[in-house]
Amino acid sequence: MKSHRIALIPGDGVGVEITEEAVRVLDTASDIHGFDVSTESFDWSCDRYLETGSMMPEDALEVLSGFDSIFLGCIGDSNKVEDHISLQMLLAIRKGFDQYVNLRPIKLYPGVSSPISTATPETVDILVIRENTEGEYSGVGGFFKRGTPDAFALQTGVFTWKGCERAIRYGFEAARKRSKLGSSAPVGRVTNCTKSNALNYSMVFWDEAYDHVARDFPDIETDMALVDALTMWLVKNPDFFDVIVASNLFGDIITDLGAMLQGGMGFAAGGNVNPEGDYPSMFEPIHGSAPKYTGQRVVNPIATIEAVRMMLDNIGESEAADHIQTAIAATLGTGQVRTRDMGGSSSTVEMGSAVVGAMRATA
Ligand code: IPM
Ligand code: MN
Repeated sequence: MKSHRIALIPGDGVGVEITEEAVRVLDTASDIHGFDVSTESFDWSCDRYLETGSMMPEDALEVLSGFDSIFLGCIGDSNKVEDHISLQMLLAIRKGFDQYVNLRPIKLYPGVSSPISTATPETVDILVIRENTEGEYSGVGGFFKRGTPDAFALQTGVFTWKGCERAIRYGFEAARKRSKLGSSAPVGRVTNCTKSNALNYSMVFWDEAYDHVARDFPDIETDMALVDALTMWLVKNPDFFDVIVASNLFGDIITDLGAMLQGGMGFAAGGNVNPEGDYPSMFEPIHGSAPKYTGQRVVNPIATIEAVRMMLDNIGESEAADHIQTAIAATLGTGQVRTRDMGGSSSTVEMGSAVVGAMRATA
């Protein structure tokens, strides 16, 4: 029997309760689809920081490297630790494990309503590929002359050819796969999210990498949108988009808009992927830790369950992944279980149980 070792990092706030749902779905999938899962949980969080002075131990990456995959709940609680400190943990794993692709599917399930009126299950089926280890998030810079009238800060983007090229190439390959599967777009299309009209070095370089990669994919339609205009087009014509490739920061911003297209943060998941498999990849709901709801079990676990689905797909359990997707669709489609964000009063556990029940019913 195949077996998978999964590291769990529940994190802060509602992280613990959503991770319980992740484990339940994982266990159900392993039971039905005949593979083994063993999980180990790590208490790396703001509470740990308050006790020990660090979010995670010094050998954290070494510890994690023994796992096949990582599930991350949610990190950060600004009442305890400043966000720019606590969230370094997330960025350190992304960079340390060369998880250079941030995979963010944006799909609106039937039965879910989006606050954006153009968004329907027929119009929203997009995949954003966000570069995940460099660019605007390179962490290069400093504070200077602090406390004087001449104080200034520098934050430098680092765009390497290799870094741009490989993320963009992943996007074109994904478009090719999607068009074979019959996504909503007539042909595969990759939109280049850029800002080369104003960012005259980094984004001009990024565009060159895009053009270079596009030549290897004559079957895929090319497209370009400046990031500001892209936010507008995503709202106006979501159905136009198939795959979007974006730099780290731009990808971050447009996927929050994407989350609204798909019904809200309760539905949005992401994968931090090292495509070569040299290191474990990491999957997470992209919402925050919602400290004020901690322990109340009111948050929507669908984003978490989606993250588990993406993880299983990534580690070769595509049948189980598809089964989870079918179960999510069935659960949301009946509209009987609705969490608070959906205007209902079902709990986190009730939504999780409904998905698990749908999996069992179709096993
Ligand atoms: C995300 C988050 C992170 C990011 C934050 C928490 C550092 O917003 O995963 O989208 O900006 O990448
Ligand atoms: Mn974000």
